[in-house]
Amino acid sequence: TARGPVIAIDGPAASGKGTIGRALARHFGFAHLDTGAIYRAVGHAVRMAGDDPADPAAAEAAARALTPGQLDDPALRGEAAGAAASVVAAIPGVRAALLDFQRDFAAHPPGGAPGAVLDGRDIGTVVCPDADLKLFVTAAAETRARRRHLELSRRGDRVTEADVLADIRARDARDAGRTAAPMVRAGDARLLDTTEMDIDSAVAEAIRLTEDALRARG
Ligand code: CDP
Ligand code: CDP
Repeated sequence: TARGPVIAIDGPAASGKGTIGRALARHFGFAHLDTGAIYRAVGHAVRMAGDDPADPAAAEAAARALTPGQLDDPALRGEAAGAAASVVAAIPGVRAALLDFQRDFAAHPPGGAPGAVLDGRDIGTVVCPDADLKLFVTAAAETRARRRHLELSRRGDRVTEADVLADIRARDARDAGRTAAPMVRAGDARLLDTTEMDIDSAVAEAIRLTEDALRARG
């Protein structure tokens, strides 16, 4: 194939996809796209406009108007944006509007990077089904809630761990249960359960699997 290597990382909320994706990109000199940030930016924009994230017309308009500059907003990291993201993400027209940007990133990584890492929910199943390596990263919901709560607390977000756990469970159920590109482990994805793994071991394992995949590419 003409394109450079593509690594697809999927999994539920706060499983460590982003941390692993960033670390892989740094290690191999690849470009990294956190596709969740795109859905968060759309959900956040709809909320800020005073519209309902479940309203297909409003959400699709926000998806079509999205610009890369919107992806760096710190407000996107909160659970309110995550919840709105999960609602707009169930609308097929929203997903369709965001597909070309993601595929283009994988085929032509910015800055002339030799490869790309994308993380999200449907990268291995829909966005990049021919990725060189697919990882499905997961961990027990309680573990994920503890980690995300710690992260939000450090940012000054005064949310309880019980609320974070409830948000994560609701989001996982919506993401796995929707008809449009549901969150599901691709048949050829390697499972990485980080419940009993610290981030350094998870990254080391992901680097090992990537090296194998790059070798297999020749
Ligand atoms: O991108 P995703 O929502 O899947 O997860 P993340 O933002 O990479 O990770 C969520 C939080 O869990 C971060 O604060 C990570 O540092 C932490 N984490 C961890 O402590 N141990 C792991 N094995 C994976 C993630
Ligand atoms: O960081 P965390 O894992 O909590 O969430 P995220 O990756 O930022 O994604 C936020 C929401 O966007 C998810 O709950 C999904 O509903 C949606 N999403 C999606 O549908 N497809 C993707 N490829 C990425 C995110």
